[in-house]
Amino acid sequence: MILHILITLLTIIIQVLAKNSTYQNPILPGFHPDPSCIFVPSKNNTYFCASSSFLVFPGIPIHASHDLQTFQLVSNALNRPEQLPALGTTKRATSGIWASTIRYREDEDVFYVFTTMVFDDLPKEDGGRFDCLVFRSRDPFDDSSWGVPTHFGFPGYDVSPYWEENGRLFVVGTYAWQVQQGIQIFELDLGTGEMGEARSLWNGTGGSAPEGPHVYKKDGWYYLLIAEGGTGAGHMVTMARARSLLGPYEGYEHNPVLTNGGPQAYFQNIGHADLFQDRRGEWWAVALSVRFGPDGSYPMGRETILTPVSWEENEWQVFGKVFGTMSGWEFDSESVVEQGMGLVVDADFFSCFENGYVLGPEFVYFRFPVEGNYGVSKEGHENSVQLISSKSNLTGSDGRSAEKEGQTFLARRQVHSYFDFKVDFDIDEMKNEEQEAGVSVFLDQLHHYDLGIVLLSNSTANSSELVPHFRVRGITTVPTFASPTLAVVRVPQDWRGQKLSLGITASNLTHYALSAAPVGNEAERIVIGWGNGLGLTWGFTGALLGAYATSNGREEGFSAYVSNWSYVGKEQVVGS
Ligand SMILES: *[C@@H]1O[C@H](CO)[C@@H](O)[C@H](O)[C@H]1NC(C)=O
Ligand SMILES: *[C@@H]1O[C@H](CO)[C@@H](O)[C@H](O)[C@H]1NC(C)=O
Ligand SMILES: *[C@@H]1O[C@H](CO)[C@@H](O)[C@H](O)[C@H]1NC(C)=O
Ligand SMILES: *[C@@H]1O[C@H](CO)[C@@H](O)[C@H](O)[C@H]1NC(C)=O
Ligand SMILES: *[C@@H]1O[C@H](CO)[C@@H](O)[C@H](O)[C@H]1NC(C)=O
Ligand SMILES: *[C@@H]1O[C@H](CO)[C@@H](O)[C@H](O)[C@H]1NC(C)=O
Ligand SMILES: *[C@@H]1O[C@H](CO)[C@@H](O)[C@H](O)[C@H]1NC(C)=O
Ligand SMILES: *[C@@H]1O[C@H](CO)[C@@H](O)[C@H](O)[C@H]1NC(C)=O
Repeated sequence: MILHILITLLTIIIQVLAKNSTYQNPILPGFHPDPSCIFVPSKNNTYFCASSSFLVFPGIPIHASHDLQTFQLVSNALNRPEQLPALGTTKRATSGIWASTIRYREDEDVFYVFTTMVFDDLPKEDGGRFDCLVFRSRDPFDDSSWGVPTHFGFPGYDVSPYWEENGRLFVVGTYAWQVQQGIQIFELDLGTGEMGEARSLWNGTGGSAPEGPHVYKKDGWYYLLIAEGGTGAGHMVTMARARSLLGPYEGYEHNPVLTNGGPQAYFQNIGHADLFQDRRGEWWAVALSVRFGPDGSYPMGRETILTPVSWEENEWQVFGKVFGTMSGWEFDSESVVEQGMGLVVDADFFSCFENGYVLGPEFVYFRFPVEGNYGVSKEGHENSVQLISSKSNLTGSDGRSAEKEGQTFLARRQVHSYFDFKVDFDIDEMKNEEQEAGVSVFLDQLHHYDLGIVLLSNSTANSSELVPHFRVRGITTVPTFASPTLAVVRVPQDWRGQKLSLGITASNLTHYALSAAPVGNEAERIVIGWGNGLGLTWGFTGALLGAYATSNGREEGFSAYVSNWSYVGKEQVVGS
């Protein structure tokens, strides 16, 4: 009895002495879904995370951290078209790179990313729909270290490796969601890409789409962690365990181990988790989540959250509930990763694209960029990026196909609830009707709002005179939308011939405001139109903010020059 009291007292004292951390979710705000993270002591005690990128290129962003608080983009595993030419030809916005698993093999000193390129326009039962891939790197701080992937023929997705102590590699994955065959396992020879026969491991607790599996070994048990319920409202994390890797697996009686905190919670759709241990041996989980606006919109899409996990010997895990402001295991003191190619994930950004500037790894394109269309500081146009217009606008011929001559669009992720994004445009070389350059908040070809400067004929006169107009257009398949053309106004007479600054801000938690001003005269800024966040609440990706140039289907192209690219994060709304 006395001993028991003593132990209880001691536990309380230890807990009080432990300097628990407070931190904020999401740790990777904006379009960073399906997270997978590891901790690598031998690489200067660094955490590395990978997330999904779908049709955005460069893809598979790798973020690194020393303290689990500041995450810096250090490379993109998919950064050269020749690594995966097919990404440039895919149809349908839900195609491209789905979930990745990142792992490190100490004995080989190699980082692995297992992932799947999905051709989502093909029928569910078509084996060609899935192309499973393994990327390798010895230095994830450098794009060029990521090689051409090895392909293997598993006709499913969400592949995750598990190496036995003897080095044998097994891979868990899942089949297409309509074919309810649950989580699969098979042996894989990475040298040849040859696969052993796949066998069924666990079918989950009955939720739809059992997927996102990972295996962990602890205390002589194999723990299988999966996602169920689909990546929407019913999303959850469930566990099973077995004494042998191949099963039989027994589900935990108190599943799910992690899901949203009820319909009122700010963080929703929580699932697709991965587990790792920190420097002190404490466990953490990352998972995907969305932040619901007051109208149920979440244009930033699926983001990465972090939650502490208690995992006692021989016991099941206890996951912390997910909030905006979190308390968890003690953190290492704050320190930044002083390596790698990119910036802190939610850093403010400004560039005037001075001579010699190289577009960093945060800049993305929709599918592959057409080489030469994004020249920095061209002669006569110093301090700007030349956008050579594409014939296709951001919607394109059918809203779902790769356009032959590309879609000229340079963008970065939206990573704050409230932000201020502005770019200056020089449109002196614009000559023909329907030539257009502007800014867009863009999810995919069928979900975007654009504010363009466009040449239109003067409709009140019988002349061929072309007059620059501001035009807000948008497209969405979400049934909240009235008209594809939201506003057309003439550029004010005394602004003509000047450089113009176009901007996008979150005017409140449900709407984007698209605005314009003459460069250097912010006081004159006017809002041209609004876009509804619900219109971008669709699919698997999240909003990008960028600049485009198009001739809207006409042959004659032109160049627009953009500069003074500025993104300022104003506020991260995370609920109570
Ligand atoms: C999962 O369900 C499929 C289809 O009903 C079945 O063939 C398979 O044996 C099940 N797997 C397990 C481990 O129970
Ligand atoms: C510290 O955090 C861990 C993990 O969330 C939790 O189990 C523990 O109770 C916390 N301790 C205190 C004193 O809050
Ligand atoms: C390890 O990280 C610390 C903290 O960021 C840094 O000061 C140090 O230079 C790093 N060491 C190496 C070898 O990169
Ligand atoms: C359009 O043409 C009319 C008639 O010539 C002229 O009065 C008006 O200023 C023109 N509008 C613009 C925007 O140039
Ligand atoms: C424009 O031209 C049409 C046909 O040539 C004519 O009927 C109309 O009156 C003209 N309008 C103006 C404003 O000049
Ligand atoms: C948000 O802004 C839009 C555009 O100005 C407006 O229509 C809407 O009423 C605003 N919503 C709230 C809750 O203020
Ligand atoms: C960038 O901003 C500065 C200061 O407002 C302005 O003088 C310059 O013209 C801008 N550059 C371009 C290319 O718009
Ligand atoms: C895109 O371009 C086509 C013509 O190629 C045009 O019909 C369509 O209205 C444009 N849509 C948007 C939203 O840019």
